[in-house]
Amino acid sequence: MSRLVIISNRLPITINRSEGELHYHPSAGGLATGLNSLDDDYNKLWIGWPGQDIHDEWEKESIRNDLASRKLAPVFLTEREIDLYYEGFSNKTIWPHFHYFTEYTAYNDDMWAAYQEVNYKFFQETEKHLREDDMVWVHDYQLMLLPKLIRERFPNISIGFFLHIPFPSYEVFRILPWRKEILDGILGSDQIGFHTFGYMRHFLSAAYRITGYEHKFGRLHIEEREVNVDVFPMGINYEKYANIDDNAATDQSSGEIRKLHASRKIVLSVDRLDYTKGIPHRVRAFGRFIRNNPEYIGKVNLIMIVVPSRANVDQYQSLKAEVDVLVSQVNSEYGTFDWMPIHYYYRSLNFAALTTLYREADIALITPLRDGMNLVAKEYIAAKEDSKRGVLILSEMAGAVYELNDGAISVNPQSPQEIESALLEALEMSGEEQRLRMEIMQMKLKQYDVKHWAATFIKEQKKLKDKNKMANTTHLAHSELDAVLDKYRAADKRLLFIDYDGTLMGFHEDPQAVSPDDEVLKLLKGLAADPKNNVVINSGRDRDTLEKWLGHLNVEMAAEHGVWMKEKGEWHLNPNVVDGWMPKVRELLDNLVARTPGSFIETKDYSLAWHYRGIDRDLGQKRVREFRDMLSYLIQNQDLQVLEGNKVVEIKNAGVNKGKATSHWVGKQGWGFVLGIGDDATDEDIFSALPQDGISIKVGADRTGARYKLSGVSEVRKMFTSLLKA
Ligand code: UDP
Ligand code: G6P
Repeated sequence: MSRLVIISNRLPITINRSEGELHYHPSAGGLATGLNSLDDDYNKLWIGWPGQDIHDEWEKESIRNDLASRKLAPVFLTEREIDLYYEGFSNKTIWPHFHYFTEYTAYNDDMWAAYQEVNYKFFQETEKHLREDDMVWVHDYQLMLLPKLIRERFPNISIGFFLHIPFPSYEVFRILPWRKEILDGILGSDQIGFHTFGYMRHFLSAAYRITGYEHKFGRLHIEEREVNVDVFPMGINYEKYANIDDNAATDQSSGEIRKLHASRKIVLSVDRLDYTKGIPHRVRAFGRFIRNNPEYIGKVNLIMIVVPSRANVDQYQSLKAEVDVLVSQVNSEYGTFDWMPIHYYYRSLNFAALTTLYREADIALITPLRDGMNLVAKEYIAAKEDSKRGVLILSEMAGAVYELNDGAISVNPQSPQEIESALLEALEMSGEEQRLRMEIMQMKLKQYDVKHWAATFIKEQKKLKDKNKMANTTHLAHSELDAVLDKYRAADKRLLFIDYDGTLMGFHEDPQAVSPDDEVLKLLKGLAADPKNNVVINSGRDRDTLEKWLGHLNVEMAAEHGVWMKEKGEWHLNPNVVDGWMPKVRELLDNLVARTPGSFIETKDYSLAWHYRGIDRDLGQKRVREFRDMLSYLIQNQDLQVLEGNKVVEIKNAGVNKGKATSHWVGKQGWGFVLGIGDDATDEDIFSALPQDGISIKVGADRTGARYKLSGVSEVRKMFTSLLKA
């Protein structure tokens, strides 16, 4: 079994120092509690921060030993790193920004520098432990640069990344000055997971707009790697909350909670003290509920557990002050001598007290303004496994709502009216309806528990690893290249098909701006000068351009995907082409251009091409779909085809393509060496028209039927230079 190496900022165990002694506690927060439930199903190693500033080397060593026995490896942070990386960039920049609290986002270069340094520190600790066959799983917003650091050192290792918080829309994400570095960091992974489809969509759109990587159904090609971006909503350890052992779940506070519940309805809320959780809004809404529904005075309590969190960050301190004031306002305004509306506890609870509250509470009022997932909502439902009693009121802004919306009452957390009426609805809901709703939610949570979440993530990551390994297209380098060179040397008659754009020359928004540079001319000239070689430029370009740029060289050519062919210095037209269809299609394209600034039409002798490199990708794709729709009606019964290239759609005669042109040359005589090279979908026709032992080379990382691949134009040029020297 390969080992799973989990890396997260916080270990599931946090160290606290009290009265000079160190104590180990379970960490709070969704990531630690969720992942820690994976237990022994995996051979795991967990690397992370134990949550204290430890200076003393001896003390560090002793902690290291303690933790090693639990398969945990600590990364110790200095006071400065805690300040600038943890409280700073992680929690004053990324946390607010990704939760749409952009007014709180800190823009500070020292914090950014510390974030980079600490990500590197995590890398150094990881490097010490890592083995090539490990599966690495990096977690959350504190470590977004880590996947790339690991990738650079271990190019073949399998890396997953999961973001536990929302990924904001591109419009918000792009405000960050460090957006590109952050994306590049995450994209070092093989698999990237989010709780919801919305976060995934935002990420893919940011990746495309900022780094230029396009996806197909969530798959991106980055150099040699296929990267999978997908949705994996995190579950909980259902059994742990469903089968609470009554004896274990009894302590003093549990008894008190039960006593309280005997006389009153309990509305429960549990969160870290965080401005994303909507605590003040909730308190205000609860106050309003009492004011407008006095019949509930003395009959309902809001028990509010607020767990201390990130207490050194300003906004958390001011939030604490705000909540204190609001709670005492509601209590002093509406409380009676024997009833206090809100029971407010600023502390964390042990498992027994927390689960007693879950079981006793009639309503869970969970109203974050923004929350990646929210596990408390799920834990509450699981704790009702036996009783099937209780109602969940859940914010529309929590990731969990997508799984729970058919059983929960969902509310907009900014609307006190909605919260008030949800409370009324919940308090008045029949037992039967509560049971029905609970069952729906429980069924899902039971099936999609935390083990299922991790197993699915890891399974998909493993599939990808195997697939990336198996891909039968090999990089044309080292021994592979040597073998090709040997074959080239041995042959007396060689035929070389070479695509132009994206193969010999890079792309430009203006296709006319990519005339061949000196290096390309020299290479082609050199290849053509060898009497054993027959060089064919097989391009979608029009005849005039090719003639202007390359006509003086001793090469043959196929233009417009084989509409025209130049052999022995003479151009001739493919007899299968017609052009009567062109005016109608031209009209259609003119209309498309009129509505799509930045796109343009290229008119060739027997085909029309619409280029949309300069425009938004999504708009481009929408227009291509439109165009195809209109076209199918316009050109019924005509022998035409539509080719989709790299940001270009071309319409032309059917039965004319680069493959047909290739076959024409291949069939001329027996060749000892045939090579075809190209970068886009139209070049696949070249590859399939090569003889069995032909050398097909794909440029770029897209799926291909070619035997070999090269990463881009500069590798292509290097390969031709090697042929010249062979
Ligand atoms: N939790 C805890 N101690 C407490 C209260 C809550 O350990 O006193 C746990 C709770 O059981 C849940 C986690 O903290 O698993 C909170 O996760 P959630 O996803 O709801 O919010 P986050 O803190 O991750 O934003
Ligand atoms: C959220 C984050 C976690 C974090 C937790 C507690 O769940 O997604 O990464 O660990 O909050 O926050 P803390 O700052 O105490 O680690």
